[in-house]
Amino acid sequence: MQTLALVLAAGKGTRMALSGPKVMQELLGKPLLWYVFKSLEQVVGKEVYPIVGYEKERIEDYFAEYKGNFIFQEEQLGTGHALQIAWPKIEEKNPEIVLVTNGDTPLVKKEYFNLLLEKVKKFDLVFLSLELEEPGSYGRVIRNKQGKVEKIIEAKDLSSEREKQIKEVNAGIYCFRIEFLKKCLFKLGSDNAQKEYYITDLIGLAKEYGFGVEALNLGQVPELLGINSVQELSLQEEFLRDKIVREWLEKGVLIRHPKSVIIGPEVEVEKGVVIEGPVHILGQSRIGFPAKIGPYSFIKDSEIYGRVHEFCHIEQALIKEEVNVGPFARLRPGTVLEIGSRVGNFVEVKKSVLGRGSKANHLTYLGDSLIGEKVNIGAGTITCNYDGKNKHQTIIEDRAFIGSNSALVAPVKIGKDSLVGAGSTITKEVPAGSLAIARAKQVILPKKKKD
Ligand code: UD1
Ligand code: CA
Repeated sequence: MQTLALVLAAGKGTRMALSGPKVMQELLGKPLLWYVFKSLEQVVGKEVYPIVGYEKERIEDYFAEYKGNFIFQEEQLGTGHALQIAWPKIEEKNPEIVLVTNGDTPLVKKEYFNLLLEKVKKFDLVFLSLELEEPGSYGRVIRNKQGKVEKIIEAKDLSSEREKQIKEVNAGIYCFRIEFLKKCLFKLGSDNAQKEYYITDLIGLAKEYGFGVEALNLGQVPELLGINSVQELSLQEEFLRDKIVREWLEKGVLIRHPKSVIIGPEVEVEKGVVIEGPVHILGQSRIGFPAKIGPYSFIKDSEIYGRVHEFCHIEQALIKEEVNVGPFARLRPGTVLEIGSRVGNFVEVKKSVLGRGSKANHLTYLGDSLIGEKVNIGAGTITCNYDGKNKHQTIIEDRAFIGSNSALVAPVKIGKDSLVGAGSTITKEVPAGSLAIARAKQVILPKKKKD
């Protein structure tokens, strides 16, 4: 069946006092909408059309690969109105089935969409429902005595206690046959508590016009919960976090103190890796065997095969085998630590390569540097890479020894097998095999006698 998918994502999310559109709020570092797209793509490929409105530029910029697919709902007059706005696109594409899903319900599995697509073969309109102990703000599914779906009543339009007690609620995920939409989409009214056009009124209309309607009740499934408040956001993030950690444990990653471990949805971890919580590992990170990650570290978009000790902040870095990092190290974007190198406490590295077996053990800043093999960087060494306008490179060749508290004023090169005396300020190239000392000479004078 030819299917077109629409994502309702135009709302502001007024129930959440956060900045930006609700669908751009994040779970484990990724926007709600990212999860929806990822799941939908597995079902319909790129035939996904997001309906955006509030701060649409932010959404369009983030999901640049969907450029051309965005549909603009300028005024958000309700979920039914959003579908009406999408009608010209639906007509243009002329699919058999229109799949619609709420953009604020991020964890819907592809299997759920497929169940719905299977079911719609026999009906004109099908939607997913779930069971909630506290149905709260969800639309209630009203069934007749025979158990057939009659309509959905939105929470704000419930009139009796009996209706309020109904625990079967609408998940906000629907499949429509195009013939039904053609007939009924523009019959929607807004005569309700919120003066909005509700997509959910299409269920009642379908019954009225003799179309086949069915709800697929999946029971108590947390993946169908929507996000409308900060509490719901936090609960759903915790649900996902726990699920991801369990999956990695099942795959043979040793995770200690799993409740305090946060692993993002795009992270890859190899069997045999050891991760000790609390720790954050986010973005497109890859932790490969035999890496060991100590507690209290934050890691993002990095590839790690070595040992990360406690309290490290690591972003866009590559840490190879037999490397030791930390405790208390900061690796910024563009850091490459070659096999067997060492970055110790209170060392910051940015856009630099530290060659095989080289060491910067204490209190150092290495920025825009190319450092060869078996180099020793003494405590307190600073590469002075910034002149106030531009950044410059420092090159330190194999086996050079930089004495403690040296300032290397870039651009500058320290040749191989050379030695820089402690406390030097190096402004000129140090040739290979030489000794450079650039500090004030020590003077010894007789101590002044006090009267
Ligand atoms: C909606 C359903 C409710 C269901 C619940 C499930 C309606 C009227 N109600 O309620 O039956 O139980 O989802 O989570 O649909 N949006 C637009 N344009 C608009 C209004 C909303 O694109 O004009 C988008 C929002 O950005 C959001 C989604 O539609 O992603 C749902 O809107 P929301 O206001 O959260 O609906 P609920 O009250 O949760
Ligand atoms: Ca919602």
